Amino acid sequence: MSMSPATQCPPLIHDLLSRRFSPCAFEPRPVDQHHLLALFEAARWSASAGNEQPWSYIVATRSESDEFARMLDCVGRINLSWARLAAVLMIGCVRLSLQRGGLYPTAEHDLGLASASLVFEATARGLGVHQMTVIDREKIRDVYHVPTGISVMTMLAIGYPEANPSATKTVTSDLRTPRFRKPLSSFVFSGAWSNAWLPAQATPHLEQANARLTPHSSCSR
Ligand SMILES: Cc1cc2nc3c(=O)[nH]c(=O)nc-3n(C[C@H](O)[C@H](O)[C@H](O)COP(=O)(O)O)c2cc1C
Repeated sequence: MSMSPATQCPPLIHDLLSRRFSPCAFEPRPVDQHHLLALFEAARWSASAGNEQPWSYIVATRSESDEFARMLDCVGRINLSWARLAAVLMIGCVRLSLQRGGLYPTAEHDLGLASASLVFEATARGLGVHQMTVIDREKIRDVYHVPTGISVMTMLAIGYPEANPSATKTVTSDLRTPRFRKPLSSFVFSGAWSNAWLPAQATPHLEQANARLTPHSSCSR
């Protein structure tokens, strides 16, 4: 039976999901515009509460060097070592109120869903996406004139993942840590909060996967 790279166990999840990871190094290769268009199209067709489509993305490609530098300047310092290698940077923003007015309780969720669609479209095209929370939101508001009522949520670094990042000069092996996932029993409940739907013993192959170092590790500080 084939093993999925992310879990090293029988592939219970789709290959597209198991192949996704947050790269900490990118090849110095541009992303064709038709791929980029497809990523935005994937986000565009995402579901949203009441079909509100509250998301917006601001984009800068490496080929527009001034724009790229301006956006890179909004990345948090701890993310710079790998974000500066990306072919494309994006900022994910979301409208916090409904179009007819009033609170939009799932706005951030719906941006996340659109970004997830974008990420999986990217994965299907051999691209990697590393999302960022450590960004300078005030600077972004200022630089891009983001209006009141729009929240600056995330940045996304996109490009072709470097196949062997520890061999590059910019990312050394000590910047890489094993991927870790909590067991299902810690977040899937039944009947009452923290009452595991399935006890950990029922999914031993999934629990074992937590302890394994996987081929794709995530970046650490
Ligand atoms: C919304 C969001 C924000 C993130 N922010 C950062 C960040 O600022 N810096 C960073 O190194 N990784 C960031 N990550 C990546 C996570 O650390 C990563 O997804 C997690 O460690 C799991 O690794 P994986 O994506 O390779 O499965 C972020 C991920 C998401 C979804």
